[in-house]
Amino acid sequence: MALTLSLVLIAASAVVIGAVAGADPTGDAAGPGAASDAPKTPTSRPAPAEPPPAASVDTFDRAAHSLDDPMSIWVVVNKLRPLNPPDFEPPDLVDVPVEHTWDPLLRQEAADAIVTMFQAAADEAGLELASNSAYRSYSAQEEIYDGDDLLTARPGYSEHQTGLTMDIGAVSGECSLAACFADTPEGIWLRDNAWRFGFILRYAADKTDVTGYSFEPWHFRYVGVPLATEMHETGVVTLEEFFGLPAAPDYG
Ligand code: DAL
Ligand code: ZN
Repeated sequence: MALTLSLVLIAASAVVIGAVAGADPTGDAAGPGAASDAPKTPTSRPAPAEPPPAASVDTFDRAAHSLDDPMSIWVVVNKLRPLNPPDFEPPDLVDVPVEHTWDPLLRQEAADAIVTMFQAAADEAGLELASNSAYRSYSAQEEIYDGDDLLTARPGYSEHQTGLTMDIGAVSGECSLAACFADTPEGIWLRDNAWRFGFILRYAADKTDVTGYSFEPWHFRYVGVPLATEMHETGVVTLEEFFGLPAAPDYG
């Protein structure tokens, strides 16, 4: 009897010592974080699990350019953020050598990007794009403003006045400046590819409460390839959301 009790106690002690020494109580030696001194079973041990991927680190510099300076390619213009000064006129406007309805002017960098993008649309997809409107001065915007604040910006509040924006259509004129442009081959190609050339579709269909404007599938704003790529990859559609700026559905 005494001998049996001693054996039981010895066996119980062995279990306790084993557990304290770190033996894997689950036997799941291959699981993540398995103890390094888990029992070695060379013949049956599965390969260690892949380490989890390193958390992606957002290294994009959101302060690389000014959001306020009208000469910045990241300037954010909306109903709460007029151009400053209101009659700002870019000093480096050039003619844009593309098909057009109205003579297009843009700042040099945006003009170069438009030429490259139109050529790519032709080369890659056989599509002929045209400009319907590009730079508009304060006084030109005065003439265009139609009183409907969902469709046109008031003078001093239009992205077109930055010299970084173009209303793009098909040479055919199909669905020109109309919502149905979104469903044309040209509209679809621009939606999917404009980011590669540094442009964003500024007034998306479901973002009127942020941008203040109805869907404009023809209105493309140059912001440069790094920002357009970052917005494309992160899926953030508006400049307001990307930079954490207040939504601008109405004039203040
Ligand atoms: N249609 C755009 C909002 C403008 O007038 O600038
Ligand atoms: Zn426009």
